[in-house]
Amino acid sequence: MRPTPAVIPVANPAAQFATHAPAIREAIERVLSSGRYILGPEVEAFEKEFAAFVGASSCVGVANGTDAIALALRATGVSPGDEVITVSHSAVATVAAIEQIGAVPVFADIDRTSRCIDPDAIEPLVSTRTKAIVAVHIYGQPAAMEEISQIARRHGLIVIEDCAQAHGAELRGRKVGTWGDAAAFSFYPTKNLGALGDGGAIVTSSAEIAERVRRLREYGWQERYISSVPGFNSRLDELQAAVLRVKLPSLGADNARRREIAAAYCAALDPVRIIPPAAIQDTLHAMHLFVVESPQRDILRDLLTVAGIGTALHYPKPIHLQSAYAGRIRGSGALPATEALSGRILTLPVFPELTSDHVETVCDALSSQCAHL
Ligand SMILES: Cc1ncc(COP(=O)(O)O)c(C=O)c1O
Repeated sequence: MRPTPAVIPVANPAAQFATHAPAIREAIERVLSSGRYILGPEVEAFEKEFAAFVGASSCVGVANGTDAIALALRATGVSPGDEVITVSHSAVATVAAIEQIGAVPVFADIDRTSRCIDPDAIEPLVSTRTKAIVAVHIYGQPAAMEEISQIARRHGLIVIEDCAQAHGAELRGRKVGTWGDAAAFSFYPTKNLGALGDGGAIVTSSAEIAERVRRLREYGWQERYISSVPGFNSRLDELQAAVLRVKLPSLGADNARRREIAAAYCAALDPVRIIPPAAIQDTLHAMHLFVVESPQRDILRDLLTVAGIGTALHYPKPIHLQSAYAGRIRGSGALPATEALSGRILTLPVFPELTSDHVETVCDALSSQCAHL
């Protein structure tokens, strides 16, 4: 039997555009007629507004989330050859960013409950070359930043938060992005705060780090055309900043709606057969991705596809098993939790514009399909 095409997508950036269409068109028109298209008043205003949202003193807009990680590492003093401890259970971008500046990724295993870096796995990996930790708040679940910060303090390490999936997530009532030395955000269209193209930002409460990132994003310029350090070209454009300014005021409500949908799914499924994301005390999940686990993941995926429900794998293969990285990253041989998780995960549709009817369809499918697993 041929499966029916997915009618309920995993994410739907077009639906979000539709919600804000008149305000976005107006913002775009304002930029078009302004004559400023890169690093102008919209970027400046967005940087202030996003820093205030996160609760940090500075935000610096860049071209994408991968560059945000790379520039955050470089601006906090990570140099070529330095080791950076992170996870294999992430978007490849996390590791690509580390290698982009010539640093050397090292993999720590994840905690099976949070699916984020396991603080206990970090310390045994610290070497004389270790300079930083990149903690990824995977799927919108905050990593254990207090434990990570303690380890970092003990060994004099820098902490960078990869917040690409966690805009608005909180740990002990404090937003992610305020826990490390600097944090990287992505505004890829499907993110909780998404642009209509690429975009990213570094958030920090260190004026010095912010200033270094400002130089690095534009050729290391100290003043126009005069470079004080070797830099990059990684600038946020005015159109994307204007779009992000339209959407930012709704981010809190959008995240709440994501959590509401996740709660409905959790109530519908049998947690013995389809394991939902763990509810972790003192954390507020941004619910960028709702990722369940099942030992029968592929069967579940097929059943949901037939029911018209889109699913995805985040990610189909841990980074250390992908041919670009296999066999060459320290730590890769001891990632049992990462490897155990990877064959069991399945991402279900969660985005703020998902209609109640569609949420109900997914709930019905989850509760009826549990019986087949
Ligand atoms: C965890 C994580 N880190 C980094 C990135 C990189 O962001 P971008 O795609 O904007 O470069 C992404 C986005 O795909 C991500 O999910």
